[in-house]
Amino acid sequence: MIMGRLQSEKLAPFFSLLFFFFFSWFFGFSTAAFNLSILSFDEGYSPLFGDGNLVRSPDGHSVRLLLDVYTGSGFISSSMYQHGFFSAKIKLPSDYTAGIVVAFYTSNGDVYQKTHDELDIEFLGNIEGKPWRFQTNLYGNGSTNRGREERYRLWFDPSKEFHRYSILWTAKNIIFYVDEVPIREVVRNDEMGGDYPSKPMSLYATIWDASSWATNGGKNKVDYRYAPFISEFKELVLDGCAMDPIQELPDAAACSVTDTWLESHDYAVITPARRAAMRKFRQHYMYYSYCYDTLRYPVTPPECVIDPTERQRFQDTGRLKFGGSHRKQVRITRARRKRRSRGASISNEQTDM
Ligand SMILES: *[C@@H]1O[C@H](CO)[C@@H](O)[C@H](O)[C@H]1NC(C)=O
Repeated sequence: MIMGRLQSEKLAPFFSLLFFFFFSWFFGFSTAAFNLSILSFDEGYSPLFGDGNLVRSPDGHSVRLLLDVYTGSGFISSSMYQHGFFSAKIKLPSDYTAGIVVAFYTSNGDVYQKTHDELDIEFLGNIEGKPWRFQTNLYGNGSTNRGREERYRLWFDPSKEFHRYSILWTAKNIIFYVDEVPIREVVRNDEMGGDYPSKPMSLYATIWDASSWATNGGKNKVDYRYAPFISEFKELVLDGCAMDPIQELPDAAACSVTDTWLESHDYAVITPARRAAMRKFRQHYMYYSYCYDTLRYPVTPPECVIDPTERQRFQDTGRLKFGGSHRKQVRITRARRKRRSRGASISNEQTDM
């Protein structure tokens, strides 16, 4: 008896390790952690709005942004950056969060009102029991009539634990990361012209009421009985060529040194393992891409890399033909069978784009 227990106790870590490796291998999401220099809030950021709803931790290293019936809140980097790696560990509000947007993005809209640049990660709220969804997007030189949205689900519940979300912006490419998984890369393409962000940007983090559009196209609104809604940010990172917000043009020489330094970081390199993880993520969790939305863009935007097998999964609205995961697909197939037997046609499951 004792021998048996000892043996299984000894074996337990082995099995859990095996389990871990199996899952890491299966999902391909096991890339080594980035080597990052973490800032305290006051070292890099300032409150932006809703000051009373911005709560710093006693050690100054993490910050909570609250949304209540009176206001949302936000913070901004104290400098602007000509290229950079903008990153934070974020935990989203839990339970009923329809209509809420938590945004982590770079922009220079305050300085260049008509020709602004922007890179977005926007979490779009959820109704209870449904997963959070999020989108990435970019604008350059005021290209606000040419959205470049992609929408995704996640492989974890972002309200249960902290995960790292990052935006890398260099002169060559843009990479959006969830943890160490690159989920989207936009390689600079001459045909994009000014649509590729080119001017210094600040980092913003905000929580706000976007009832009119965030969740199911605005059908599910913020319910303040569940307020305050709390998002938490920690292990903040700002790497890049910092400049004063009122300095209109970057010092090209100074920034070329930082550019080289930025591009030498491990997060600037998509290794074959990371590329495989990116492909898997996009296969399983992306449910909308503007690149496949031929109704919106009859001419494919120049930076889009069309993957023929990926394209087959999308309709000409850029939405998935079926649900995102296999499980969902099975559920829909069942529902469809039921409906078909009643002679009804299936309506599109994705109504929020
Ligand atoms: C940005 O837009 C402005 C105004 O439309 C234009 O004059 C300028 O050439 C554009 N810049 C780039 C890099 O395309």
